[in-house]
Amino acid sequence: MNRRKALAVAGAVAVAGAGALVARRAWRARGAPPVPPGVPLGPFGKDSTAEEVTAGLDLTGKVALVTGVSSGLGAETLRVLTLRGAHVLGTARTREKAAQACAAAGARATPLALELTDFDSVAACADQVRRLGMPLDLLICNAGVMALPQLEQVYGIEKHFVTNHLGHFVLVHRLLDSVLAAREGRVVVVSSRGYIWAPPGGIEFDNLSGTRGEYDANRAYGQSKLANGLFSLELARRLRGTTATSNSVHPGIIRTNLGRHFSPWKKQLGEWIGWTFMKSIPAGAATQCYVGTYPPLAGVSGHYFMNCNPAVPGGHMEDEELAARLWDVSVELTRAYLPPLA
Ligand SMILES: NC(=O)c1ccc[n+]([C@@H]2O[C@H](COP(=O)([O-])OP(=O)(O)OC[C@H]3O[C@@H](n4cnc5c(N)ncnc54)[C@H](OP(=O)(O)O)[C@@H]3O)[C@@H](O)[C@H]2O)c1
Repeated sequence: MNRRKALAVAGAVAVAGAGALVARRAWRARGAPPVPPGVPLGPFGKDSTAEEVTAGLDLTGKVALVTGVSSGLGAETLRVLTLRGAHVLGTARTREKAAQACAAAGARATPLALELTDFDSVAACADQVRRLGMPLDLLICNAGVMALPQLEQVYGIEKHFVTNHLGHFVLVHRLLDSVLAAREGRVVVVSSRGYIWAPPGGIEFDNLSGTRGEYDANRAYGQSKLANGLFSLELARRLRGTTATSNSVHPGIIRTNLGRHFSPWKKQLGEWIGWTFMKSIPAGAATQCYVGTYPPLAGVSGHYFMNCNPAVPGGHMEDEELAARLWDVSVELTRAYLPPLA
């Protein structure tokens, strides 16, 4: 790169960094996002860490299942929940990866294999959990993929949708009895603000294969994350009158392995200006730990949280009809793997 080019790149980075800072300040000046009525606000915020939001809690005797503990937010969630005394069933794509991830927690963590794109693996994982005979106080659907560079399909369906939504849909169905057996079972579905990239109609039920039109990785991810939120919403409706709850969360923007498929320029941009808006991994894991354990949230269900507080997501994320339709379609797509009468 010659000197002129280098100066131009440095200038562009400086402008982008300054722009990001200004945008962040403006967002802050606009104040906190609207909050749903009746949901308690917590004392924590954007920079709170998973350790901070669980400080003082004794989770001894509680059992949590966390998917995707081999990396990023799942690994931190496993670490902090076990630190507070919970027993964590930690899943990863292979038993070896799960064992490696659980090793530091010693007897407080049980490794399990779970490959979300293989519904036989999901069923086997759930059966193993059921055989342990432990009520599940907490089920955190955390594992996920983003930005797959090309259209990939599993069971003829676009892969983000299968991994992020359908795999967890089957897992939760097969473990719902265990969640209901807990005194106050909580399902936490890790969604994303990226749901706003979903197609204009929300979920393209007539294009779940992803073959119509040009493949757009953000759109596919956005649709799957919208599906996460809608699944939690409809699950909460179906759990009304029980002791169990379901909520979804946006963890923030955090540099984890989730960006492994990003283009080199996007990764580089993240290195340069990410500090202006990104959270640390301990802060990224905070909202799911908070929603899963904070005592005043007992009985709170059907909500969306970000920055360790409830928020009104708006748009399709609140569309109850869409949520009900997604449920029915997801049942059709996974029927062979669901318990009877799902
Ligand atoms: N990081 C962010 O900025 C951000 C923002 C919004 C939402 N989220 C959400 O946060 C959650 C955690 O992401 P992260 O940032 O911690 O990413 P990460 O570091 O890439 O961790 C993702 C985890 O999911 C596992 N996983 C991926 N595909 C799987 C599959 N087919 N079956 C089973 N497990 C699978 C990964 O296992 P391997 O390592 O073996 O692939 C890994 O353990 C995701 O649901 C993501 O959508 C993250």
